[in-house]
Amino acid sequence: MKIFHFKKELSEYLKAIKNEDRSVGLVPTMGALHDGHQSLVEKAMSDNDEVVVSIFVNPTQFNNKEDLIKYPRTLDRDVDFLKNISGNKIIIYAPSPEDVYDGNVASKNFNFKGLDSVMEGAFRPGHFDGVGTVVKRLLEIVKPNKAYFGEKDFQQLAIIKKMVEIHNLPSKIIGCDIYRAEDGLAMSSRNERLKPKYREAAPFIYKTLKSAKQKFGTKSANKVSEWVKKQFKSHPLLELEYFTIADDKTLKPVNRKSNKKNYRAFIAVYAGDVRLIDNIALN
Ligand code: PAF
Repeated sequence: MKIFHFKKELSEYLKAIKNEDRSVGLVPTMGALHDGHQSLVEKAMSDNDEVVVSIFVNPTQFNNKEDLIKYPRTLDRDVDFLKNISGNKIIIYAPSPEDVYDGNVASKNFNFKGLDSVMEGAFRPGHFDGVGTVVKRLLEIVKPNKAYFGEKDFQQLAIIKKMVEIHNLPSKIIGCDIYRAEDGLAMSSRNERLKPKYREAAPFIYKTLKSAKQKFGTKSANKVSEWVKKQFKSHPLLELEYFTIADDKTLKPVNRKSNKKNYRAFIAVYAGDVRLIDNIALN
């Protein structure tokens, strides 16, 4: 297993690989790896000759300082996790903020054409500029043929695709299905921080999304949203931050349904002090 902490050494190593015309896949992560990451890494391994997994808790995408401090950092465990998946095949890039940002740890401002003005963007100011900044840096450092992102962060995926298009970056962005625990909870590094009673309650989020999908077949988006709000109002442990039904291309909330468009429902919920997000395709 190769582990690089500095981009200079990583770039040199990758240059030799690319000179041999070997393809490179990138799986960007913030560590605390779980089965959802495993599915991304396995997809990347089946598509490419070499796979780089970056493990970097990116400070510029946290609008909440407390959230950044509490974010799990488990590098030794993550290295073992990747060894178990791949033997020694994976290349790990686990840099410091100084290495990624060349000493200037700050976000750049992006124009994501409105994709960032709703949902996560509205509730987490500056978050997507931080994501755009770090993903652009990682794509420039690794120069992968393909980079892999989970659809749990569907808005993030749309924004990264837009950023790559606007900046004409040569890497192809691959979206991968949401990976769920057996009880339906979407896999997330944040799940580790759930106290047992909240972990037990959390599958209610996906259960509600599935019912919302069913209702969307016959009811308006407004009616479905009202129904979802009611479910969470009476829930003793989970607090709804937002539920939005949006066009899956523009991410604009739906006014009137059109059968020419595809819609998705997006949700953010607090389970104690842990914020969870999820989404589901509606048609
Ligand atoms: O989805 C994540 O884990 C992060 O937002 C990412 C894409 C690794 C950027 O820090």
